[in-house]
Amino acid sequence: MYSLSSLSGKSVFVTGGLGFIGSTVAHKAVSLGAKVTIYDACLNPYGWNFANIREIRGKISFVRADVRDFNKLKQHVKGMDIIIDCAAQVSHTLSMSDPLLDMDINCRGALNLLEACRQSNDSAKIIYASSRGVIGTPKTTPVDELHPESPADVQGINKLAAEKYYMLYHGVYGLKTTAMRIANAYGPRAQVKTGDYAIVNWFVKRALSGEPLFVFGDGSQTRDYVYVDDIADAMLLAAQSEKGCGEIFMLGSGKETRFIDVVKLIVKLVGKGEIVRKPWPPERKAIEIGRFVVSNAKIRKLLGWQPKTSLQEGMKQTVEFYRQRLKEYV
Ligand SMILES: NC(=O)c1ccc[n+]([C@@H]2O[C@H](COP(=O)([O-])OP(=O)(O)OC[C@H]3O[C@@H](n4cnc5c(N)ncnc54)[C@H](O)[C@@H]3O)[C@@H](O)[C@H]2O)c1
Repeated sequence: MYSLSSLSGKSVFVTGGLGFIGSTVAHKAVSLGAKVTIYDACLNPYGWNFANIREIRGKISFVRADVRDFNKLKQHVKGMDIIIDCAAQVSHTLSMSDPLLDMDINCRGALNLLEACRQSNDSAKIIYASSRGVIGTPKTTPVDELHPESPADVQGINKLAAEKYYMLYHGVYGLKTTAMRIANAYGPRAQVKTGDYAIVNWFVKRALSGEPLFVFGDGSQTRDYVYVDDIADAMLLAAQSEKGCGEIFMLGSGKETRFIDVVKLIVKLVGKGEIVRKPWPPERKAIEIGRFVVSNAKIRKLLGWQPKTSLQEGMKQTVEFYRQRLKEYV
């Protein structure tokens, strides 16, 4: 089993660091001794929440700024050893209703960061939070890094473009970039105000609040659910190794789980929750991909990463977190 090295004396810059995955990375980096700077524009309807950094607020620096602001980025990436890029327009449905916003944040934002690094910090390790969304509907499963990319929505296209910029800046300018194609993340600190993304967490909130759990169709679509701590570990592990430079990794548990089974697990762990079946809304059906599970063989082999948290254990911790802190998230 891998272990992360100390980050004592290192500066870590996390874009989108007030959000779900970014704040988990920030917590972990602080615990490893890093000097952490969070860069977040606090944009709605995304998952930024100061409750996410409650325990580390006094130990980090916070910059309220947008990744679309090139000059700000250029100023703040200077001197950083590790950059973890989690700022994004994360909603699949919003990417369809407002595609230009998605392009602006997900493409221009990512390119701004790379260009800022090229101009003022070309030695940092830069890790991109890419997405399973770049694949679209899988042709074969498990999905590995060689699987063709055919995004099912605008967000997937822009994440793919961003990923390609990351690889280009490695190939042409030698920047130390890595892209992690994250599967379905769940765990403490995700937003639970909307089910537009991170739906599993939203269901935990609904079950705890006594609200019905609407399942479209028969819930037999599958996903690869990966616990947020395991994701943060993978990103920091990549940042601590030369082996990830210029590489793309599928980042998931490697386990295929039916959505309905996760919902049933939530009901069991929460101790209540009514499952109500509904027909698929057309706009959701149009971008639904059916089955999804990744092969995590490459990241296991190259970085030594492996998921440490089972779905059962991770969901238990997630339910416990929201049971105690739901008020800070609704
Ligand atoms: N959660 C998942 O299941 C999942 C799956 C695959 C990929 N990802 C990727 O991981 C990254 C983080 O996602 P998350 O789940 O933590 O989302 P999140 O909504 O919790 O966090 C995103 C953060 O980015 C910030 N942000 C948005 N636009 C910004 C901008 N223009 N400038 C600066 N900050 C901005 C938001 O304020 C928010 O704090 C994203 O790139 C997302 O695409 C997430």
